[in-house]
Amino acid sequence: MGQEFSLWWQTGVIYQIYPRSFQDTNGDGIGDIPGITSRLDYLADTLRVDAIWLSPFYPSPMADFGYDVSNYVDVDPVFGTLGSFDEMLQGAHDRGLKVIVDWVPNHSSDQHPWFLESRSSRDSLKREWYVWRDAKPDGSPPNNWLSWFGGGAWEWDETTGQYYLHSFLKEQPDLNWRNPEVKRTMHDVLRFWLDRGVDGVRIDVANMILKDPELRDNPPNPEPAATSGHARAYWSQVHLYDKSHPDVHDAFREIRGVLDDYGTSAPRMAVGEMFESDRRASASYYGNNLDELHMPFNFALISAPWTAQAVRNVVDITEAIVPAGGWPNYVLGNHDQHRLASRIGAEQARVGMTLLLTLRGTPTMYYGDELGMHDVPITLEQVHDPWELNEPGLGRDAERTPMQWNTQPNAGFCALDVQPWLPIAGDYREINVAVEREEQSSTISLTRSLLELRRAHPCLAVGSYRPVDDGPESCFVYLREHEQHRCLVALNFSAESQTVALQKRERGSILVSTHLDRVEEVDLSRLHLRPNEGCVIEVGRR
Ligand code: GLC
Repeated sequence: MGQEFSLWWQTGVIYQIYPRSFQDTNGDGIGDIPGITSRLDYLADTLRVDAIWLSPFYPSPMADFGYDVSNYVDVDPVFGTLGSFDEMLQGAHDRGLKVIVDWVPNHSSDQHPWFLESRSSRDSLKREWYVWRDAKPDGSPPNNWLSWFGGGAWEWDETTGQYYLHSFLKEQPDLNWRNPEVKRTMHDVLRFWLDRGVDGVRIDVANMILKDPELRDNPPNPEPAATSGHARAYWSQVHLYDKSHPDVHDAFREIRGVLDDYGTSAPRMAVGEMFESDRRASASYYGNNLDELHMPFNFALISAPWTAQAVRNVVDITEAIVPAGGWPNYVLGNHDQHRLASRIGAEQARVGMTLLLTLRGTPTMYYGDELGMHDVPITLEQVHDPWELNEPGLGRDAERTPMQWNTQPNAGFCALDVQPWLPIAGDYREINVAVEREEQSSTISLTRSLLELRRAHPCLAVGSYRPVDDGPESCFVYLREHEQHRCLVALNFSAESQTVALQKRERGSILVSTHLDRVEEVDLSRLHLRPNEGCVIEVGRR
């Protein structure tokens, strides 16, 4: 309280674009950067988000669809050129949109010239750029670490007779961040994009860059299912030594230093992807003096059960653990998670969008969620994600399908005679930008109204958060307050009608309901919410 939060990444809303799936312009069925440029008006004027984050568009063999980078300072021909990137950036800036790029420091592609050189001989000058170790005397890998995508984390290299570490696919060898040359080079990569004018970076698996220097075995996990909700082999261990070594804090401070060198007039921002089962550990990456990452991504809303109590708990804990002066953030969907509408249903997805856009903290939206896009069924022949091939059922193709723009065949994503790289949703004729824009009660109309409210009411963008206890168990009710302004948000997580009864007799005016059919004065001592309804209500000035 009393603190001013007015930087672009604090007041703004971030929109994630998965470039392969946003807009194809060159007829290969894969989205590209000129496609993003052609949709900037949509983002800046129709939707009116504040920043876009682009998943990787760098040269890549696409073993993990761009998260296996073979050149950090160029654009893959599938997506365009550096020239088309610059045009997109300029176009975004001309419209007041900030641009965040993905930075993948933990691993490169096995086709990156650094790795090719590293694996060429034990004496290679780049040998220490990656993590190489001898086999144990019995020939087995150096320790018990596992790959996120299934199987062990070590790959045997016949030519040089050692194992290399890959926390993800074997095509994604881990870089050795304990080597100062690697660190320096990766900082230069950051500068390359910052010098071009990007406003921020999303750091891929940020906390994994520093591991136990002794490479000790991870201990067994006594409660694998409790940790993750999955029976995956990956969770048979506590991931104690293969990530989050305390030295990562120094690495983050140095990365922050690189960003801060760009000054305060146009502050650059870093948001880090991390998976920590202990939420306090996640919050520690803000830094003791707020000198590490501007924001560690907060995925707690994705993993929590979708009930009013569990969600309130996530928010209350978030509020409690973000250090003083730090700024929270929330995420409800991304390219690694099943779509919001598939996880919680189409009606609750609207409640979810209302929550995301009215909490205290930066929201990151996933492309298509503004339409209520859902997972698309993927047949065996259509599978692209290598994770699905390794561990069936865990693939991420369903949430990466093409953006639905209009009612034309291929939903306006690519030309009519082109085969899109992933299938288009069967109901795209109803769920698309062109149709929904015209429908007063559509999900895009709701999203636009919420974005508009957030802009018009500073209490929603930067105000304090206070949970209200007077609701029934299946409702989450909170107040956002800033100076004289107050908004009450009341969300019904159930499919039954509910009545919220604020103890204080007060009246308010509904600014938006998820059903988009009422703008009216209400008595807050008996506020009726219809099934799956959420309302944002302006409450009298104090
Ligand atoms: C992150 C990305 C994911 C990718 C993985 C390996 O979790 O979000 O898509 O597969 O890192 O880079």
